[in-house]
Amino acid sequence: MKVDILLGLQWGDEGKGKVVDYLAPKYDIIARFQGGPNAGHTLEFDGIKHVLHQIPSGIFHGNCLNIIGNGVVLDPVVFRKEIEALYKLSIDPKKNLLISNRCHLILPTHKLLDKAYEEEKGEKKIGSTLKGIGPAYGSKIARAGLRLGDILSNDFEKKFSETIEEHKAILEAYEIEVDDHLLLEFKDSLEFIKDFEIGSTEYVLNNNLKKGKRILAEGAQGSLLDVDFGSYPFVTSSNTTVSGVCSGLGIPPRRVDKVYGIFKAYCTRVGSGPFPTELLNDVGEKLQKQGNEFGATTGRPRRCGWLDLVSLNYSCMINGVTDLFMMKTDVLEGFDEINVANSYTTNDEKSEELPFSLEHVTPSYKNMKGWSETIADMQTKKLTVEVLDYIAFIEHYLETPINLVSYGPDRKETVFKKDDSWS
Ligand code: GDP
Ligand code: IMO
Ligand code: MG
Repeated sequence: MKVDILLGLQWGDEGKGKVVDYLAPKYDIIARFQGGPNAGHTLEFDGIKHVLHQIPSGIFHGNCLNIIGNGVVLDPVVFRKEIEALYKLSIDPKKNLLISNRCHLILPTHKLLDKAYEEEKGEKKIGSTLKGIGPAYGSKIARAGLRLGDILSNDFEKKFSETIEEHKAILEAYEIEVDDHLLLEFKDSLEFIKDFEIGSTEYVLNNNLKKGKRILAEGAQGSLLDVDFGSYPFVTSSNTTVSGVCSGLGIPPRRVDKVYGIFKAYCTRVGSGPFPTELLNDVGEKLQKQGNEFGATTGRPRRCGWLDLVSLNYSCMINGVTDLFMMKTDVLEGFDEINVANSYTTNDEKSEELPFSLEHVTPSYKNMKGWSETIADMQTKKLTVEVLDYIAFIEHYLETPINLVSYGPDRKETVFKKDDSWS
């Protein structure tokens, strides 16, 4: 069997959590391959809303094994809080959750360093979620990190103290002290995590593939936040694109089958950095209001703008997207006209390619007729001409079919355009 991948094509928050939860019954395993508590994946069903940060979005499906892969940076303190929230709902994740022993740990000092580095940047700050992501991946790449598997070894205490002392020395220059209670809370959380299944997830995944099991890799963040291909330096610190699946789970490329690329019918960004189609006017405010665009992790308002096909096309290319999923289509209800960026002008040159920097590009738009009907009232085959035109224009530009349309936060508010391709 092969691995399917679902990942965001924009700047995150496309609705990955909702769709992974929706697709989970079709899979045996759901696996997160990168990111960490900077992610906020929202799921809604039976009138309840859940936000997951590190735990894969298949956790509510008892038959699905959920794997936190080696590419994830794990904060045990956040992990404990997430698990305790699930216990309150009478969900026992011990039964269907497995964590890689190779996951790097986010230490309390990584979070303090994140804050120190952001503050130092002043106006040029990234707008990080301050969850310690950059410093934790930094330690990993500098070969100075601690991994989850280390907590089971006898010399963990020594390694931990040495690392904290190194971080304290850096923090001293920023006049930041490390509160002892943060270290105690961290250690308590490590004891908590020891009760969970920790192991070599690369074996589990590959053995299950051999047995014919179906695996869905769940991306976090979005392709435009990828550390290599995103709007650097305003990016996250991992590969959010397809390559992250192989390195973050230990799965060979030839095992990859479908790549589901998920995007909002418009565009949002939270944090700093260039955003060519951003609308700093009442139209942007309307999108923010109708889309309830506030961050699931930090609560920050998300910046809003029109759909950008130039960057979407780039994301499709880098990821080899086979199927597109269009989310939040309902949010475009009630706009007289809708614009879609289909080229950029940089230094008087018009192009459909994404330039090295997005700082000084002027997008050109295709103007389309809006619609007033409620998508929820439309049956799959009765989408109005305007909605179908919108879908057709995007599919034509991206040379990729849109096979799923989402029109509300609930699991049920989802339609497949071509049902037979999903059997
Ligand atoms: P993720 O990080 O990609 O999982 O996305 P988030 O959970 O951060 O943000 C997506 C937000 O949109 C959440 O509040 C979802 O409940 C909501 N959502 C998902 N799909 C739809 C949709 O089709 N319509 C509307 N109105 N909301 C949606
Ligand atoms: P999900 O998985 C949206 C953004 C931050 C900031 C930049 C770097 O929910 O889609 P970091 O905390 O990684 O140092 O932040 O990336 N960012 C996200 N934006 N959705 C996310 O995750 C994000 N995770 C990080 O706002 O601009
Ligand atoms: Mg999110």
